Amino acid sequence: MSQSEVDVQSLFAEEKVGWSGYVEWEKYPEKKAIATQILNTKKFTPIPEFQFVPLPNTNPILIGHRWKEYHEALGLKNIVDFSWKTVLEEKPDLLHVLDFPYNGETTREQLLLGKLTDNKYHFVRNHGGIPDIQEDVFELEIGGLVNKTVKLSLKDLKDPAKFPQAEVTVTLQCSGTRRIEQINEYPGDGDELINAPWGEGAIGTAVYRGVPLKKVLKLACGGVTPECKHLEFIGVDTYFKKNNVFNYAVSVPWRKVRNNEEVLLAWEMNGKPLPKSHGAPLRVVVTGYIGARSCKWVYRINALAEPSMGPVQAQEYLYFTSQIGKQNTKYSNGFSIQQMPVSSAIISPVNRQVIVHEGKITLKGWAYSGGGNWVERVEVSPDGGSVWYAVDQDDMTEKHYHAWRLWKIDVPVDAEGWLEFCVRTWDSSNNTEPTFVRSAWNWDLHVTSSCHRIKVYSVNKTRAATMKRLKELEARGEGIEPLSHPLEYQLEDTEEYLKACRAHPREPVC
Ligand code: MTE
Repeated sequence: MSQSEVDVQSLFAEEKVGWSGYVEWEKYPEKKAIATQILNTKKFTPIPEFQFVPLPNTNPILIGHRWKEYHEALGLKNIVDFSWKTVLEEKPDLLHVLDFPYNGETTREQLLLGKLTDNKYHFVRNHGGIPDIQEDVFELEIGGLVNKTVKLSLKDLKDPAKFPQAEVTVTLQCSGTRRIEQINEYPGDGDELINAPWGEGAIGTAVYRGVPLKKVLKLACGGVTPECKHLEFIGVDTYFKKNNVFNYAVSVPWRKVRNNEEVLLAWEMNGKPLPKSHGAPLRVVVTGYIGARSCKWVYRINALAEPSMGPVQAQEYLYFTSQIGKQNTKYSNGFSIQQMPVSSAIISPVNRQVIVHEGKITLKGWAYSGGGNWVERVEVSPDGGSVWYAVDQDDMTEKHYHAWRLWKIDVPVDAEGWLEFCVRTWDSSNNTEPTFVRSAWNWDLHVTSSCHRIKVYSVNKTRAATMKRLKELEARGEGIEPLSHPLEYQLEDTEEYLKACRAHPREPVC
């Protein structure tokens, strides 16, 4: 190890025993300044281009060279290594969209397994490395505009005699879910921390157990002061923005926290201890908001008069108009995305699938609405959005205030050839989805809530000519797929051809 490597390791050392992967930045402005100086002297690999060129057909799909190099420059390579080791242990079967910071997507099959997403299959979105914090030494600090600053151990928090516990079924959705549809329409901001090219699987549902933050503020801190308008959550992980270094920080308004079980401090996910990749030992779960506010590995909460100045809150997760782009974007000219709108996705069949059927096609998917709205109705159209069929209530999972509903429908289909199916959902406030991706395209490629569309090739066996062709193919040991491969035999014999053409000549009569 060179002298300079030794230096950075001692400069940015972990300061708490049992808190591996945690470097405190927010308390030490001078330490931040030194880190910036070091980063300013280095050249880093540019982020990969994947919007103007096709995505690589690899798993991991994208490699986070730049973010790894940032960590290495500050002597934090152990964080990079531990993160990937944890991913392989906890999330071996996800689609690894980005290896570091880890972004992993739930596959289609995993999404449809049930109302609750198995912890092993729940998507992960990280801005930094996964830390390794021992539960028995962990403590949460609460300060700022509270009547009493406190430090609470996990044992305190978990003690039902001290704080009432709650279990809530919550769908967490990254505001980048289905981003790939926006990219395919028009490329947008690449962002230093890659705006992951998610498909339909950056969403998942779990039962979280913990204590409502409102209760902790009241019982441990004696309440917040009248000036408090926002609660800031600080996570252990190290985050980078334009060569500056931070701990992950976001905030939600106090008015949200006041709604008892809508903001939880959680340690359990689906009846099991929170996995490391999901924020162990303690995370925030904010119902109905974008996933970004549900801070993982939370170790400090600050009651503030204004929203957090952390870059994830102040400079990212912004919603711009389509007139805003690289030429004029600022942090202040987009609004902050907090509550998630209604959205849905068709998970089966998949885009470009060939479907041989007997007059109906089965579709399955998810539907979700945030902001305390729940899913009331899901409708599917087999013709791009003119005719809609409603999903039967018996074919939807039960309603929750803060969770998705999985659905299934058999849609009558007579037509053959390429058809465009789409789905739209209505929520409890009668909101529904924009019609086309273009209707809500935005520079940061967030919140793709427009009707999800897929093109499928319909082969209807109830039609005599189709059935005949399928039988011919079967007799030859062939199938209809691959669709683009030509048939290797004559489509009809000469006698049949002449009969048809003489009955209906191709030339008009004089
Ligand atoms: N908390 C910390 N500390 N660091 C992060 O990178 N990512 C956020 C949020 N909480 C993040 C975080 C984002 S953008 C999302 S979508 C959710 O965590 C994802 O939660 P999950 O990884 O448990 O599915």
